[in-house]
Amino acid sequence: MKTTEQLAAEQAEFWKGPGSRMWLAAYGRIQRTVTGFGEAALAAADARPGETVLDVGCGTGDTTAALAAAVGERGQVLGVDIAEGLIAVAREKKLANAGFEVGDAARFAFEAGAFDLVFSRFGVMFFADPVAAFANLHRALKPAGRLVFVCWRTPSENPWALVPLRAAAPHLPPIERPGPEDPGQYSFGDRARVERILAGAGFVRPSFQPLDRMLALGKDVADVLDRISEFGPLARLFKEAAPEQVGKAREAIAEALKPHATADGVQLAGACWLVTATPS
Ligand SMILES: C[S@@+](CC[C@H](N)C(=O)[O-])C[C@H]1O[C@@H](n2cnc3c(N)ncnc32)[C@H](O)[C@@H]1O
Repeated sequence: MKTTEQLAAEQAEFWKGPGSRMWLAAYGRIQRTVTGFGEAALAAADARPGETVLDVGCGTGDTTAALAAAVGERGQVLGVDIAEGLIAVAREKKLANAGFEVGDAARFAFEAGAFDLVFSRFGVMFFADPVAAFANLHRALKPAGRLVFVCWRTPSENPWALVPLRAAAPHLPPIERPGPEDPGQYSFGDRARVERILAGAGFVRPSFQPLDRMLALGKDVADVLDRISEFGPLARLFKEAAPEQVGKAREAIAEALKPHATADGVQLAGACWLVTATPS
C-alpha cells in the first residue's frame, strides 16, 4: 500500500507534468463535459458583489473568471492550483479582481477566516489526505462562509467515461485500479466517504445534490475517436500499448459508441455530486 506522502507526490507529479499538458491539449473537448456541471455549481455558490472567494484547483481559471465577474470590483477571488503551467494560462486572463497562486491547496498558508466562499469545479478529489486538506480549507473560511464544489460520482454512474474504457480494456495493458481511499477523478463518488471527510475536517450541514446530464463527447464516432486518447486513463494506456493493441482498442471503442450516436452528436450520461457545506 502506498503512503500518504507517495500518493501526494504522485498526484503533484502528474498534475504539474503530463496532467496539465494533456488538460491544456484537450481543454476544448473537456469543456464540453465540465461546463454544464460547473454552471450548476456556480449558480449554487451564488457569489455576491463584494465577497472574497477561493477557487481550489482552479486550472486555467475559467471558473475564477466567472466568480470574479460575480463578486465585482469590490470583491476579490484567489485561484490556487498545483500546476504552474495551468496558472500561467489563468494569469493571461489579467483579471482586475482575481489573483492566481501556484500551490498545494492541502497545505497552502491561506489567511485564516478570510473567505466567504470556497469553491471548486472538479479540483478537490486529488488530495492524498483529504481530511487534512479540507481542514485547511475550513480554516480559510469565515465562520459564516460556505463550501461549494462539484465532483464526479462513481465510474458506473458515468458511462461517458466507462463505456469507452470498458470496450478498450480487453485489448490494452491492465488498468491500475485505485484503492477506495486513493485520490483520483472518482475518489469522491461515494457520498458516505465525502460525508466522513467533511465531518472530519469540521464542516457541518453537508448537502449532496445529484446532477445528471447527457454529455456530447463529439459530433460523431470518428470525432470522439480522434480525441479520446488526449486525456484520462486511455491516454496513458494507449501510450503503454503496442500499435496493434491500440488499433483493436479503437475499433472496440467505435463499436461501443455507435449505439450512442445521435443527430446531436455522441451522447452518454454523466453524473456528479453538487456538494455544499458550512464551517459552523
Ligand atoms: C480536473 S482539473 C479541474 C480544473 C478546473 N477547476 C476546471 O474545472 O477547469 C483538476 C485541477 O486540480 C488541480 N490540483 C490537483 N491537486 C491539487 C492540489 N493539491 N492543490 C491545488 N490544485 C490541485 C490540478 O492541477 C487541476 O488543475
